[in-house]
Amino acid sequence: MEYVENTQSNTMVLAKETLISPGFYTTNIRKLSDIDTLSFQGAFNTTVANLKNDYNKDKYIRDGRFNQSWDHIQGEAQELIIKLLEMYFTAEYSGFILYKELSYQLKETNSILSDGFSLMSRDEARHASFLNKALLDFHVKPGLDFLKKEHRKYIFLPFSWFIYSTYLSERISSCYYITIFEHLKAYPERSIYPLFSFYKSWSEDENRHGDFFGAIIKSQPQFSNGLRAKIVCKFFLLLIFSMTYFKYKSNDKLLALLGLDAREYYVSTIKKVNNTIREDLPTILDVEEPRFFEKLDICSLHILENKKINISNQNMFLKSIRKAPHYFTLFLIMLRLFFMKSIDTREKQ
Ligand SMILES: [Fe+2]
Ligand SMILES: [Fe+2]
Repeated sequence: MEYVENTQSNTMVLAKETLISPGFYTTNIRKLSDIDTLSFQGAFNTTVANLKNDYNKDKYIRDGRFNQSWDHIQGEAQELIIKLLEMYFTAEYSGFILYKELSYQLKETNSILSDGFSLMSRDEARHASFLNKALLDFHVKPGLDFLKKEHRKYIFLPFSWFIYSTYLSERISSCYYITIFEHLKAYPERSIYPLFSFYKSWSEDENRHGDFFGAIIKSQPQFSNGLRAKIVCKFFLLLIFSMTYFKYKSNDKLLALLGLDAREYYVSTIKKVNNTIREDLPTILDVEEPRFFEKLDICSLHILENKKINISNQNMFLKSIRKAPHYFTLFLIMLRLFFMKSIDTREKQ
């Protein structure tokens, strides 16, 4: 533990440094540079103007509600809140670094995209800074060792992976935040810490980031038109939605603390996101079809079985043999999900 300055109250607080490891991502910069923003000027101008307006500039002010000790939150509740804050701090910081670097790399070649990424990095930095202060409330100081150049390991995401995963993570996080905000507005007694009352602004920011990526998707024929675009889109939607859904069990205690049922929360988030993205994508999944989540539940059971095998004392070879049938079943179920009917969003146009 060491004393750290709390800039909010100009006091020194006792905090323990914790290791934070945000991901460092990069993608094909040439393909980003080549994006023709002129032919889609309307879409880009609107999304960049909305980012420039910075509607939530004055919303992230830690008001009087934070001026108290949070040491009464102890035990499992404290652990869960710290886990939530660390998880989001890491994600926001990753977003900040990614957008900041892209903005810099595109400065000379694509000024519209560079501006957009710079404005989004401003938002992510603000979110990360807010979470940093929240962590100090719980005596945790995120260690910034990862910023040292020698510690950075960049993960290269192929262009379509980058666009789809970032676009969907913005839309999904926007839905996460607003769902929690609305739930706690209805059940204020469940709001054990004031951070959640900022989730409406947070959700709006992430949604504007999603709009910016939506404009990129619409400007790229390989993402928006034709059979190949639909197949690629379906693949990414299935991959990212299922990965999101599989996480629900690891967040069940945290959500229960706020009075939410984890499965219901994840199902409703995925359904909301699926509905929101129909404006941007050529196809969406039929997540209202009950078999969709039923099949994902079966996948969850196989993943759990494999996790159990992983922690057993058997040797690697035996573990691999025992895990193989589960992987095979997982593959078959995912294949069946992929061939389930999807909804063509361009049909009526
Ligand atoms: Fe953010
Ligand atoms: Fe974002």
